[in-house]
Amino acid sequence: MEIYNNISLKNYNTFGIEAKAQQFVAVHTIAELKTVLAEQHSKPKFILGGGSNMLLTQDIKALVIHVDLKGKQIINEDDDFVWVESMAGENWHEFVLWTISQDFGGLENMSLIPGNVGTTPVQNIGAYGTEIKDTFVSCEAVAIKDQSIKVFNKEECNFGYRESIFKNEIKDQYIITSVVFKLSKRNHKISISYGDIAAELAQKNITTPSLKNVSDAVIAIRRSKLPDPKELGNSGSFFKNPIVSKKDFAPILSKFPDMKYYEISDTEVKVPAGWLIEQAGLKGKRYGDAGIHKNQALVLVNYGTATGQEILDVSKLVQKTVYERFGIKIDAEVNII
Ligand code: EPU
Repeated sequence: MEIYNNISLKNYNTFGIEAKAQQFVAVHTIAELKTVLAEQHSKPKFILGGGSNMLLTQDIKALVIHVDLKGKQIINEDDDFVWVESMAGENWHEFVLWTISQDFGGLENMSLIPGNVGTTPVQNIGAYGTEIKDTFVSCEAVAIKDQSIKVFNKEECNFGYRESIFKNEIKDQYIITSVVFKLSKRNHKISISYGDIAAELAQKNITTPSLKNVSDAVIAIRRSKLPDPKELGNSGSFFKNPIVSKKDFAPILSKFPDMKYYEISDTEVKVPAGWLIEQAGLKGKRYGDAGIHKNQALVLVNYGTATGQEILDVSKLVQKTVYERFGIKIDAEVNII
């Protein structure tokens, strides 16, 4: 385990932004992680997982710890369910594909989401009607301050829409090292009601879809709408879909009767930010090497050499334009560093 100085992070963030880490270390075991935390306790630290949910707008004047813990195993099972533990540094999509190859159900709708397993609880990732919290059992984490190990069960994580305790109350205090999911072994709950999945399956004449069929459909839909970070730098949805109280929403809807929205409680609706951005005329717009993706307006992209600041400027332009047009504030989902 070696600490390097002045390392480029271009290959460690899916936006492909050029920024430097003052110091950088990759840890491959929990013991290495604890050693680094103990020996470097006085230094400011920055924890880096898959780098798929951050926008680097500056060099990082800290010790960047790249969590590269690998491994996955079945830790328990009964007739109906299996408890699978994955280390934090496993690539999420590869892990999902592995669960599907074993015919373990629950993660198939979240195929092809970029990033590593360890960061999935941080923002309770989700897609096509499922979220991590639906199959999450617990995660283990190391405290940065004293290297003690803590297990967080589902209730303790305070999961919400793209939210958890790790983004809020205990932000920057723990490093997640592994996650346990409870997956079905039989009688899988196939969920295809969201968005285009059912249509995609129907097109292939699939009437009783397997986990693999659902995963393949999600992969096809995502490939058609969302850019592959290996080809075009991006961080998935840059913004969260805004949640608006019904009271505030009523006058907006009467002014814009075509506006799409989903009722999420008795008092609130969720509005697709992609729709707002598209209707504001920004979809596909490009400013230098920073832009708004042509197929999914929620995604900001780096066409090559955009700086983090340039992407941030585009995000502010999007927020301002949407607010001026519709009176709705949209917040970034991505961590801005
Ligand atoms: N829409 C537009 N224009 C656009 C994009 C979307 O009009 O450019 C409309 C669509 O027509 C649709 C609605 O907005 O009526 C919702 O679109 P979509 O189903 O594509 O989902 P989304 O709300 O834009 C969310 C997640 C995605 C996830 C999809 C599918 C957030 C912030 N984003 O996007 O997650 O893949 O649902 O479940 O919740 C991510 O978080 O990085 C991500 C990609």
